[in-house]
Amino acid sequence: MSPSQPTPRAGRPRAAWLIPAVGLVWSALVFAYLARPLPLPTPFPGSERQGERFRPLYNAELAAGVDDDLRDFWQKPQRLLEQLKPFEGLVVADIGAGEGYFTKRLADRVGESGRVIATDISQAALDTLAANLDPDLADRVSLVLADADRLGFEQQVDQIWVVQVFGEIDDKGPFLQRLKAVMHDQSRLVIIDSKHITDPTNGFTRPINLNAIKQQFTAAGFELDPLYPITRFHFLPKQYCFVLRRASASGRDPGDSGPLKAP
Ligand SMILES: C[S@@+](CC[C@H](N)C(=O)[O-])C[C@H]1O[C@@H](n2cnc3c(N)ncnc32)[C@H](O)[C@@H]1O
Repeated sequence: MSPSQPTPRAGRPRAAWLIPAVGLVWSALVFAYLARPLPLPTPFPGSERQGERFRPLYNAELAAGVDDDLRDFWQKPQRLLEQLKPFEGLVVADIGAGEGYFTKRLADRVGESGRVIATDISQAALDTLAANLDPDLADRVSLVLADADRLGFEQQVDQIWVVQVFGEIDDKGPFLQRLKAVMHDQSRLVIIDSKHITDPTNGFTRPINLNAIKQQFTAAGFELDPLYPITRFHFLPKQYCFVLRRASASGRDPGDSGPLKAP
């Protein structure tokens, strides 16, 4: 070896410390990537906002093929109506009555001295309802054309049924206020709708947030009637059922399961 050549140094090479340092930085980057906050998945636009409409508007053409017998199987209308009886002599509103699935059953139960106010925003639905109504019941039913901002009547009622409609309402707060305005202290509001929502883009189903719905009722000045806990309606396989009263109502004696007649 000539005297001008550098002598190789013994021990670790000079850049050996770089290897663990790079490893450390790399691990930190991987950890930061994995721990980053992820956006919550939204199944389809708007469905995450429980306060707003979570179902497309009802389509009469699609509904036309739905067989009452098939619906009876999951809707269990007689068992539902049994929970809210007696009806004799009551004034009952069927909001969003559609083709009258509940209207005709309510009209039968309120008897000759009672009345059913059947409303809908669709004149076509009301026409079909009128055509389907048994002539014996027709005298007990008033058909009312509503619109998205108007109930269509001002008369006080003893019960209000809102079946398979709530999910179609865009602005639920004002809608509930309009219902409250036609209720007296003994009136009850029955809201029934699907427990699940199906994403039309992929067919996946997820549960409705019932707590968010309850909060809307509270915010609008309603409370659940303790006589009708939602567990009482667990016989419904596909739907929830809330029975509400005005929060300001004195309420009935909890032991009183008598009729909800107007005072
Ligand atoms: C799915 S259908 C249910 C019909 C009926 N309640 C039943 O259980 O067969 C919903 C109905 O609500 C009506 N609707 C939607 N928004 C409404 C509103 N703001 N006031 C009254 N009816 C409404 C629709 O036109 C439609 O006929």
